[in-house]
Amino acid sequence: MKILVTGGAGYIGSHTCVEAIKADHEVVVLDNFSNSSGIALDRIAEITGVRPVVVEADLLDTPVVEKLFKEHSFDAVIHFAGFKAVGESVSEPWKYFHNNLVSTLVLLDVMRANNVFNLVFSSSATVYGDPEVVPITESAPLSALNPYGRTKLWIEDMLRDIAAADSRWHFILLRYFNPAGAHESGLIGEDPNGIPNNLMPYITQVAIGKLKELTVFGDDYPTRDGTCIRDYIHVSDLAEGHISALDVIESVKGCIPINLGTGEGYTVLELVHAFERAIGKPLPHKIGPRRPGDSAATFADPSLALELLGWKAKRGIDEICNDAWNWQSKNPNGYQTR
Ligand code: WQD
Repeated sequence: MKILVTGGAGYIGSHTCVEAIKADHEVVVLDNFSNSSGIALDRIAEITGVRPVVVEADLLDTPVVEKLFKEHSFDAVIHFAGFKAVGESVSEPWKYFHNNLVSTLVLLDVMRANNVFNLVFSSSATVYGDPEVVPITESAPLSALNPYGRTKLWIEDMLRDIAAADSRWHFILLRYFNPAGAHESGLIGEDPNGIPNNLMPYITQVAIGKLKELTVFGDDYPTRDGTCIRDYIHVSDLAEGHISALDVIESVKGCIPINLGTGEGYTVLELVHAFERAIGKPLPHKIGPRRPGDSAATFADPSLALELLGWKAKRGIDEICNDAWNWQSKNPNGYQTR
């Protein structure tokens, strides 16, 4: 297929481009590089031998998006582009609503005008809010805990309504749990702007000496060691899940949400200890207060992905830690474009 990957230079986008090229898809990337680096595209070329066509543009720039769809006849779109920092979304909600929602509407408008009706949407387990029951199935209640999560939920709701009104659309909503790790080559990986919000990049920056020590946000949760449980999924497994979604998208009726997780939950301290095994040395860490908004335990029931996509995660926590460390030690300052 010929696919457009919006946000294709980003963490999950770049890993998905690698897997798409490996699966012989033709990839065009649209990215405004607001939270990514063009170097990731050079690295994709180094890994696959193919450099995707790249358009540096903002999805909000309708004329550019229209021109892109005139120049290329796309079979499907994988839509990653969007702001995704939970904390920032609380302090700047309008920025998140405008960017994430309006850019998606522009994309849908131009897709429809060009008879492109296959969309794989980058959703998130954040749409489950603070889950009552774990493991979480796709039929669990939906709610949002912050403006970022609300944009994911509202976009899902828009896609459900659009699909209900027009049967030409095929939507697969991939709900990611906790992406982590990096491509086995160490050439692409997670390169957050500033101090990382997420656990794994914070850990790797402590291990490389860029940050002093990890603060574990609370050890008084009702879990086996008191720290929060999450479903850490290797980013290459996640990327492969997108390719499996492309393989079935034409047969999807309407709008289908699918969890992409391992079904295994690990506590923060279990991840820290797995990482210490991977690097062969202790990781400086201390226990601090809880972080507001954190749920005690969130992990997936991934059975629908196996049923509908024939996909399941293959990589475990040790591979996640080894590959995250391989990327960080080879790229102490990420892609070094900041
Ligand atoms: C994981 C665990 C923290 C940092 C977020 C977004 C979600 C999705 C994935 C986009 C929690 C603990 C973390 C630290 C810590 N992103 N932690 N010290 O919150 O599960 O999910 O990323 O879709 O939308 O909400 O991930 O990595 O921030 O935290 O103890 O310095 O690690 O308390 O228990 P989270 P996270």
